Amino acid sequence: MLNHNMANPNPIVTRSLDEIRFWSRIMKEHALFLSLGFTHEQSQLIAEAQQFIDLFERIEEKLSKYSVNTDIRQIQAFNNEVYQAAVAIWSYKRKVLGLTLRCEIRTNNYALLIDHVSREAAYFANRLKDLNEGRLAPEPDTIIQENLFFLRIMADHAKFIGHLLDPSERKLVEQAREFSHDFDQLVFQAIDLDSMRPQSQTEPILDQFLDQNRVSVASLRDFKKTARDLIEACRIKSNIHPLLADHTFREAERFLEIIDLFESHLSNNNR
Ligand SMILES: [Fe+2]
Ligand SMILES: [Fe+2]
Repeated sequence: MLNHNMANPNPIVTRSLDEIRFWSRIMKEHALFLSLGFTHEQSQLIAEAQQFIDLFERIEEKLSKYSVNTDIRQIQAFNNEVYQAAVAIWSYKRKVLGLTLRCEIRTNNYALLIDHVSREAAYFANRLKDLNEGRLAPEPDTIIQENLFFLRIMADHAKFIGHLLDPSERKLVEQAREFSHDFDQLVFQAIDLDSMRPQSQTEPILDQFLDQNRVSVASLRDFKKTARDLIEACRIKSNIHPLLADHTFREAERFLEIIDLFESHLSNNNR
């Protein structure tokens, strides 16, 4: 689809390495969070989670050997390999979700959290597939849908934080609830916009929508950062693992980067 000047780093290579760097760590942490939520008799599921931790650690090791100058074919093969890993952890998460919904296991992981981490795995797998098919950035027509994906992720995070804080942390619980409400509203706004496509029609509004999103995501990101620092310093009561707090903070930062990417994409198209 895209033709590149081979003298410069191939943007597909650069982007692939960036996606894998971000999401492999995320996948590894999901496996850890799931394993911490199981009870001790669920040793088989814990062992499977550990295999995913090891798998994504090996991917990270391999990643460290590649650079923006690595041959595109080698990166495509790597993307394929990581794609398989992302699909494998996705199906593990869906399996755990099914066991949970059928009450065949009782864990300390909310069903929505298990579904959420499976959606992130599916997103990662799809990004790798896109890159191997030569799609660097989302097609203009899918920007709203991509945004919808991340807005829902942010809305979920606010809900998880609200429900994992100690109930006596009334002020923070209330703030988390407000964020959850804000992001639910943005999700509905994105659904409304999505049905007003094609893109040529929604574009004047899209820019404003992205600006609104940026403001909300930045403020949620700051809230997560504060929560993370308080949790790390043991200054608030919660069932939130410090790494989980940091994890959701990083995902908000990622979304902000993606909003910037969308905006530059839109302004390039307008030129
Ligand atoms: Fe995540
Ligand atoms: Fe997440």
